[in-house]
Amino acid sequence: MSETSATNEQFDLVVVSNRLPVDRIVDADGSAAWTRSPGGLVTALEPVMHAHGGAWVGWPGMPDVEVEPFDEGGIRLVPVPLSADDIEQYYEGFSNDTLWPLYHDVIASPRYHREWWDAYKSVNQRFTDAVAEVASEGAVVWVHDYQLQLVPKLLREARPDLTIGFFNHIPFPPYGIFSQLPWRTRIVEGLLGADVIGFQRQADAVNFQQAVRRLKGYPTRRGHIEVPVVDETPGVRVYGPIKPTGPIRTVVAREFPISIDASIYDELARRPDIQERARQLRADLGDPRVIIFGVDRLDYTKGIGHRIKAFGELVADGEVTVGDVVLVQVASPSRERVVPYMELRDEVELMVGRLNGDYSTIGHSPIAYYHQSFPREEMTAFYLAADVMLVTALRDGMNLVAKEYVASRFDDDGVLILSEFAGASDELTRAILVNPHDIEELKRAILRAMELPKRERKSRMRQLRKRVFDNDVAKWSNEFLEELAKARAAAND
Ligand code: F6P
Repeated sequence: MSETSATNEQFDLVVVSNRLPVDRIVDADGSAAWTRSPGGLVTALEPVMHAHGGAWVGWPGMPDVEVEPFDEGGIRLVPVPLSADDIEQYYEGFSNDTLWPLYHDVIASPRYHREWWDAYKSVNQRFTDAVAEVASEGAVVWVHDYQLQLVPKLLREARPDLTIGFFNHIPFPPYGIFSQLPWRTRIVEGLLGADVIGFQRQADAVNFQQAVRRLKGYPTRRGHIEVPVVDETPGVRVYGPIKPTGPIRTVVAREFPISIDASIYDELARRPDIQERARQLRADLGDPRVIIFGVDRLDYTKGIGHRIKAFGELVADGEVTVGDVVLVQVASPSRERVVPYMELRDEVELMVGRLNGDYSTIGHSPIAYYHQSFPREEMTAFYLAADVMLVTALRDGMNLVAKEYVASRFDDDGVLILSEFAGASDELTRAILVNPHDIEELKRAILRAMELPKRERKSRMRQLRKRVFDNDVAKWSNEFLEELAKARAAAND
């Protein structure tokens, strides 16, 4: 990949996210190269950037990497360096040990540290400065995710000429939970700097509007929020509704459910070498009658323990037979220095070890567990081999894995079990929907999925595929960018 230095250029479309869509790797001989970084966001936005051209501002994924902006795959990449302290306090701390658990229904306890908040503010300011430098006059800036919620306001102050969109990839919690956050008013004000604020589900947008009413008192009506151009009470919670007196701007806050580039998975799955790989995987697993598959970042929001518990009870009760059925669980390493993630790894691996220890036969184990990441080609082969796909998230903004599975099943076969707490369940209603907290229901769903007649499997999968192909990532980004264009037109009126 090239590392052409390219400074001082400005762009009409700027995307900003915590991570750049690349990671820097240094070989043993000291030479450096870039690789694609993991994560649904990258997968989702790559085609948009290719189609529109533009710049992407983000962290290169390693501490203290100082590189000039460079071009990769037709996109200008603008690295924002983070020090080891920034990573500890802004990324691992405030983003992933405060906001992440808070926004996911406090499945783990959020930790509130003032130094983490200070780091979050200062890193958000640095991202803002980097964007302000590369955005052309009147450019469109699209800010992504919970790590950068202060950027919209900071950017509006620095560059009032810009049209600013924000998309939240994770859930936005009900006010009763959000209100725990000591800096809740600042976060809401930060987001209200945008012209359009996108959420995964309608419920998230409603939660946000409620936070706005409760904390700032601004009127909200059917996804439109009236925000004073000048906030007379910054950082202050306002009790009761206020009618703004000076000039106001309208902020749109509504759902834009994200998706995937479905054709990529469909095309991969149709490749003979990938199909051969799927057959090989089945053979390597001992040719079981049923492969049940789960793939997630190793995160406590994903309900990995719940699915192992349910499957383990089926094995223990003799309702599934080892060798006849196997659960393949890929748990890709994630946020490995954050305490709850370390604890989760221990818990999951203890469960896997116990189950396999108790029930493996010579040659067959109930669970094949991989604490690894696999390339997209290998994932698609797994999807093709999987008779049952298990998505048991306890809370998830969307869950793109569910959509990837569906997009890969060009043969209209395979059964998706999907948690109703994943955003994808709003659209993928022909999956077998489950409450993953209900272990008995989960067990029944697994047994039902394994025995579903072929006709029903096909009819369900056809309908799921229609939803995923009709609502792909291109549609998502076009709709968001169109809403931003409308916001810009209204502001110029
Ligand atoms: O969508 C949630 C998210 O945190 C994205 O912002 C990120 O790209 C992905 O999950 C992976 O998380 P991380 O960047 O912390 O590894």
